[in-house]
Amino acid sequence: MAERTESGQSATLDNLLTEERTFAPSQDFAARANATADTYAEAEADRDAFWAKQAERLHWETGWDQVLDWSNAPFAKWFVGGKLNVAYNCVDRHVEAGHGDQIAIHWVGEPGDTRDITYAELQREVSRAAHGLASLGVGAGDRVAIQLQMVPEAIVAMLACARIGALHSVVFGGFSPSALRTRVDDAEAKVVITSDGQYRRGKAAATKSQVDEALEGAESVEKVLVVRRTGDETGIPPWTDGRDIWWHELMDAQPDSHTPEAFDSEHPLFILYTSGTTGKPKGILHTSGGYLTQAAYTHHVVFDHKPGEDVYWCTADIGWVTGHSYIVYGPLANRATQVVYEGTPNTPHEGRHWEIVQRYGVTLYYTAPTLIRTFMKWGEDIPAKYDLSSLRLLGSVGEPINPEAWMWYREHIGGGNAPIVDTWWQTETGGIMISPLPGVTATKPGSAQRPLPGISAKVVDDQGVEVGRGGGGYLVLDKPWPGMLRGIWGDDQRYKDTYWSRFADQGFYFAGDGAKYDDDGDIWLLGRVDDVMNVSGHRISTTEVESALVSHHNVAEAAVVGASDPTTGQGIVAFVILRGGADDDASGEKAITELRNHVASEIGPIAKPRQIMVVPELPKTRSGKIMRRLLRDIAENREVGDVTTLADTTVMDQISAGLKSGK
Ligand code: WTA
Repeated sequence: MAERTESGQSATLDNLLTEERTFAPSQDFAARANATADTYAEAEADRDAFWAKQAERLHWETGWDQVLDWSNAPFAKWFVGGKLNVAYNCVDRHVEAGHGDQIAIHWVGEPGDTRDITYAELQREVSRAAHGLASLGVGAGDRVAIQLQMVPEAIVAMLACARIGALHSVVFGGFSPSALRTRVDDAEAKVVITSDGQYRRGKAAATKSQVDEALEGAESVEKVLVVRRTGDETGIPPWTDGRDIWWHELMDAQPDSHTPEAFDSEHPLFILYTSGTTGKPKGILHTSGGYLTQAAYTHHVVFDHKPGEDVYWCTADIGWVTGHSYIVYGPLANRATQVVYEGTPNTPHEGRHWEIVQRYGVTLYYTAPTLIRTFMKWGEDIPAKYDLSSLRLLGSVGEPINPEAWMWYREHIGGGNAPIVDTWWQTETGGIMISPLPGVTATKPGSAQRPLPGISAKVVDDQGVEVGRGGGGYLVLDKPWPGMLRGIWGDDQRYKDTYWSRFADQGFYFAGDGAKYDDDGDIWLLGRVDDVMNVSGHRISTTEVESALVSHHNVAEAAVVGASDPTTGQGIVAFVILRGGADDDASGEKAITELRNHVASEIGPIAKPRQIMVVPELPKTRSGKIMRRLLRDIAENREVGDVTTLADTTVMDQISAGLKSGK
């Protein structure tokens, strides 16, 4: 097995693998569930026919001739020859079917302002925005970068792009100007959409100047659209005449109806950047028909969603794939009524989420383990103050959920009976891949359990041979699936190398996760096996943080590891060697704070190391590869493991001695 599971999450692992509780679905839930046990057999019998049936959830302007074309693997084509408009599927068709008055979005702003948006209103807003973007010269195939907090305009902007066949590239609001710039340049975005400012933890902060800093000299960018959010509280933002336009000024002047054009099933829908094992983020490319099919199907079966009855809330940010597939595309394609909340979970108080659940009668709630653990820390008496009886299903995503957090979630949020779906998937997979089926599966705390009907995943050893029950190894996806990435933007070779070379002989997709089968054959995810960290469910590469550190004038070399963290899953711990000429106090507290801030300004606050240790040397193999396993031992206060493959076996002693003496 790879480094990660040898030493990494051993504590979590021990817990996970002794877990034996199961929770069968209640009869009431099972009787009305969208999924049935037969779905597995149906999909198994004829995979293509199964996916063709799922694609019928959508409106196709032109039907497809072929379900899957895998002749040019690993570049897939799904629903070949079919044509559809993604935004029409998410908005207009519901209005045409008589549901225009149904609330699509209960939006809640952090300061307490709210907006209820019906499907008919959403249709008008998306139509105006489609005209607005087109008036700026944005057309099919062009790229639009969006860096916005969770305001309705973010969703409208994404759908407007989809409507006119432009690709959106949403950049998480927590990314720094230089991270935004890298993404804008890589995608050659023509338009950037942002806001004047943001509410964050009760305060209004101006943010437009940071976007300006990011875009200085950015050659591809013609226009910057600015959504007014904080207004008078942050004043008039810096403005570049001829380039900057207020969103409302442009959109208010547009007609509110727009005829959607049908695009090819394989027309690109969006790019979303994610961290890989090298410093350069990868632009994950998704296309239209297959992606939307999987988003809609999984949202239907995994969340047991019933349109017109349920109130759904996914707490993710649209800056991540969960926000794309399970706030925008899946739920809207399925005519969901959903909550979208702008702010942090403890503003103005730690019961904010439960207050919102009570107020809107939320029935389906989907969040991340890191937040569940935070809620645990805040105490069970907080949710106990609210009426959470509307909740009938809970979901988890982003990292392995430890059984303690799972049980707490079930007891204190789910009233001891709501099924929990632990959903494993990735930016690259587009939609959920491994998850219990509510109403069918007897759930187990900590296990994502089984690939969904239509999906095939296996746990294999180094040679690509499937391991037996009780065995551990690498998670692979051994059959193509509709929502799969179609490549890395502008880099086909990197796509092949990253995902398809590890098990090239078998033609497996290598997910980068370690996994294990239990004695029932259920899958337990064990964390990354590569140099990608998972901090609060955010993927951050060790190399990216290392590059940020060495770009500081005091740092000669840096090595970064993800150390287990009780709340965030992993925390970033950095080991740095200072430059010969560095100031004497460069290893002092002030200098370390400066280094941490430097990383935040290079990448974003999410990448700020939890701890930085100044060391005289780094442990390297003879071929010069840093042995992160050993550094992780130090970061997690464990006895240091086997050092025999180090070029200099005394290095670990030097490091430990230096740390003990406080140098
Ligand atoms: C991890 C998020 C265990 C995993 C949708 C994966 C999980 C990475 C789970 C993808 C889960 C996600 N159990 N691990 N239920 N869900 N992961 O691209 O390591 O931001 O490879 O997509 O998160 O992160 P990404």
